[in-house]
Amino acid sequence: MPALPTGDPVPANGALPSSALTTIADTEFALYLHVPFCRVRCGYCDFNTYTKPELGGHGATIDTFADAAIAEMDVAQAVLTAGGATPPSVSTIFIGGGTPTMLPAADLVRMVAAARERWGFADNIEITTEANPDTITPEVAAELAAGGFTRVSLGMQSAVPSVLATLERTHNPANVATALRACRAAGLAVSSTSSMARQGRPWGNGG
Ligand SMILES: C[S@@+](CC[C@H](N)C(=O)[O-])C[C@H]1O[C@@H](n2cnc3c(N)ncnc32)[C@H](O)[C@@H]1O
Ligand code: SF4
Repeated sequence: MPALPTGDPVPANGALPSSALTTIADTEFALYLHVPFCRVRCGYCDFNTYTKPELGGHGATIDTFADAAIAEMDVAQAVLTAGGATPPSVSTIFIGGGTPTMLPAADLVRMVAAARERWGFADNIEITTEANPDTITPEVAAELAAGGFTRVSLGMQSAVPSVLATLERTHNPANVATALRACRAAGLAVSSTSSMARQGRPWGNGG
């Protein structure tokens, strides 16, 4: 087996290596926020995500998550600006999960605003949230768009109820079209993580 290339040793205090800090101003800054909550777990899913009973009332909750994520941004800001380094403005934000839209839209918007306050946004920034189709209403879509989101990534594995049941998916296939229309009406681009999208169906990668 080939040896791995030698890298910088990991600093013990959680800081970035100095080689990273000296080039940070010229590095693209993409922010990923992971929201680890789901109403139910789908049997095939390998993502780090939890239902309410699994959490058992301990640790992060849906109610406290946005504030915890914003506090974490302050830690990131301290790491990124150590020694006078200047991080660039953010060029993309992707909120994934889990099911980020289990949080109130206002909390998703608050997390985006907190990123903007700390780092600023590049021109033409893309801001995406993943969503289960059941969680997108016209009101939610409008609130996301008004809060700066540019795209929603809808999870849809199939339009066939028996396939969805086998996959332990809870969403009603009809809700995909409803959610898609709501996003489009709000001016949001839509992409999909469905296998249908990969086959080039019109609701995938709708931009
Ligand atoms: C992480 S979920 C987030 C959105 C939302 N929770 C949902 O499922 O609709 C996004 C997508 O990840 C994909 N996914 C889940 N488990 C996967 C796995 N084990 N391998 C590949 N893709 C997976 C599914 O296609 C799902 O739609
Ligand atoms: S809803 Fe999405 S994130 Fe949650 S278990 Fe299912 S595929 Fe995974």
